[in-house]
Amino acid sequence: MDVSTVRWLSSPRGWAALRDLPAYDPATELATQQRLRAAGHPAEQVAALLLQSRLRARARDKFAEFADGMLFTPDGLEQSTRLELSASHAGRYAAASLATVHDLGCGIGSDAMAMSALGVTVLGVDSDPVTAAVADANLRPWPDSRARPGIAQDFDPPADPIHARVGVWLDPARRTPGVADVAGRTRRIFRLDEMSPPWSYVRAVATFVPAVGVKLPPSFPHDEVPLGCEAQWTSYAGDLLECAVWWGPLVRREGRTALLLGPGRAPVEVDQTMAEETTGLARALSDLGPWLYEPDHAVTRAGLLGAVTAATGGVEVDSGLGYVTSDRHAEVAFARRYAVKEVMPFNAKAVRAWLRARGITGVTIKKRGIRLDEDQLRRQLGVGRKAGSGGQVTLVLTRVGGSPAAIVVEPA
Ligand SMILES: C[S@@+](CC[C@H](N)C(=O)[O-])C[C@H]1O[C@@H](n2cnc3c(N)ncnc32)[C@H](O)[C@@H]1O
Repeated sequence: MDVSTVRWLSSPRGWAALRDLPAYDPATELATQQRLRAAGHPAEQVAALLLQSRLRARARDKFAEFADGMLFTPDGLEQSTRLELSASHAGRYAAASLATVHDLGCGIGSDAMAMSALGVTVLGVDSDPVTAAVADANLRPWPDSRARPGIAQDFDPPADPIHARVGVWLDPARRTPGVADVAGRTRRIFRLDEMSPPWSYVRAVATFVPAVGVKLPPSFPHDEVPLGCEAQWTSYAGDLLECAVWWGPLVRREGRTALLLGPGRAPVEVDQTMAEETTGLARALSDLGPWLYEPDHAVTRAGLLGAVTAATGGVEVDSGLGYVTSDRHAEVAFARRYAVKEVMPFNAKAVRAWLRARGITGVTIKKRGIRLDEDQLRRQLGVGRKAGSGGQVTLVLTRVGGSPAAIVVEPA
């Protein structure tokens, strides 16, 4: 797809052609293609319409019904922020009363759209002209917000960004265009200074503009959190998706925080004030209580396990492994609770005997701090993933007091 095809797609005739497409179905794609050709569309328009139809179907997971009013590129969709997270980002800019946000590397404009919907004017640039044209088309409901081709590093900050109420948002590319992995996805980048634009540039922008936010990988190291900033790890439906760093008026709670989002649930925020500074530790199997708590990954990655020990009166099962044991049956919105059925030193034979004696044939294995081949262990234990006619349990394999331990649990 080139820029002129994107322009055609976003013209009244293009939108009309998109609107008239049937719901995407691979089985009827060929027939749709022939119908579009017969209606006089040139080959590049037909290819673009079919691509949009395919991508819109895929995009429904991230954008729900809004996908039907958007244009996409394959890479742009893959890298875009899902709706619930972009709404959360946008809320910070709106709450800080910013008038204009420069989105430096705007992709297809998912974050830019969410900010625009909250009344913030967004000026986006993207180094890829097709992606910029797609973002500009996606911003059409908000005529003041625009996207154009451009390089983030060419951003010229205003002399007085506070007075002008100007902020900056960056969501650096963490994939290398044109370099695909075995699954056909573009290769992921993990080093902060290999991102584009790099972390060093993001920090430089924050020295000129007070209101800056950036989306970073969840692996963002704690010792990189700049002084006075908030680093927020966010999960959606239990999947850890990002760490966003916020400066100046965009900070809600200085330090490390976690945000848990998901369908049909109210957002849950956890911060350092809720967390004990030092957490106790189980030293032996006999220290394990009847309840095991598994914090959401955002809480664990934000280093806020102390919030789980504080809320449950418990101790860590092993240092940094992300499980908390307690005698208390507590309601914790940011951790999953399990009832402990059995604890034993980890030994495949003993675990197999325990499972057999109880007719358990389905086991969910969770391992932390222990290296083993899960398929091989299943063969040793003689169990599958799903129970079939027998019982089902979760087997937590971890360390207690430095030794491998097996904890049999059930969600409770
Ligand atoms: C992760 S995507 C942004 C996604 C966007 N936040 C969204 O939700 O749709 C990063 C984008 O940055 C662009 N990019 C990479 N390096 C850039 C640079 N130096 N200047 C401007 N854009 C850049 C890429 O083309 C890509 O579209």
